[in-house]
Amino acid sequence: MEVVIVPGSKQIGKLAADAIEALLRRKPQAVLGLATGSSPLPIYDELAARHERDGLDFSQAHAFALDEYVGLERGHPESYREVIRREFTSRVNITPENVHNPDGSAADIPAACSSYEEAMHALGGVDLQILGVGTDGHIGFNEPGSSLASRTRIKSLIEQTRRDNARFFNSMAEVPHHVVTQGLGTIMEARHVMLVATGAQKAQAVRDFVEGPVSAICPASVLQFHPHATVLLDEAAASSLKLADFYRHTYDNKPGWQGL
Ligand code: GLP
Repeated sequence: MEVVIVPGSKQIGKLAADAIEALLRRKPQAVLGLATGSSPLPIYDELAARHERDGLDFSQAHAFALDEYVGLERGHPESYREVIRREFTSRVNITPENVHNPDGSAADIPAACSSYEEAMHALGGVDLQILGVGTDGHIGFNEPGSSLASRTRIKSLIEQTRRDNARFFNSMAEVPHHVVTQGLGTIMEARHVMLVATGAQKAQAVRDFVEGPVSAICPASVLQFHPHATVLLDEAAASSLKLADFYRHTYDNKPGWQGL
């Protein structure tokens, strides 16, 4: 796990966009894994700016979203399908049919989850997965207790996550209880995972998954087993890390050719 600590989210956006740009230039048909939440927004802003300014090309790329609420009607502005479209994919030239979302309104959710996994597999798997982290250490919507080998499936949300996400709805009562999410086993198959966390409210979760034991109680800790995981943090999110100085020293002395 490589931990990179930078002053703020602007630098995080640039670093992550550099990695995504390098991937697209080397492999124009790359498969990107997209996350919702506020953490990845600086990345999407930077990629949209590079598309606009430098013509960064997404025309052959594919994208798979991590998760979706169950029970929101199609087109609901807070459904993750809409959020991903609004925040990112509508701002670059990715083909809309190449953007895949778990289907939270399918009549047969287990079948829809299997087809989602098959579609990812058919395209050769995810090259680079963007992730945020919940205050309870969840990634995607894999709440504490999720199997570390889980695949795309329906899950229940913990009350804390519903509270955290209530800001996007008119009231807590509107926040769905159920979601569909890529599993931890699914996420672990991405060739490169890049997790972004900012703000003091994430410091404990960051400390737990980076430096604590690998355990289902902190789902993001499974990334300790990933061969290519990058953790991009601002100072506040990094503030509880025991080895912060070591991570800074390592990154400052990293040869430029290595990239992320
Ligand atoms: C939601 C999403 C996660 C995201 C998390 C944190 O629960 N399902 O993918 O990482 O929120 O969001 P934020 O980045 O807004 O803190």
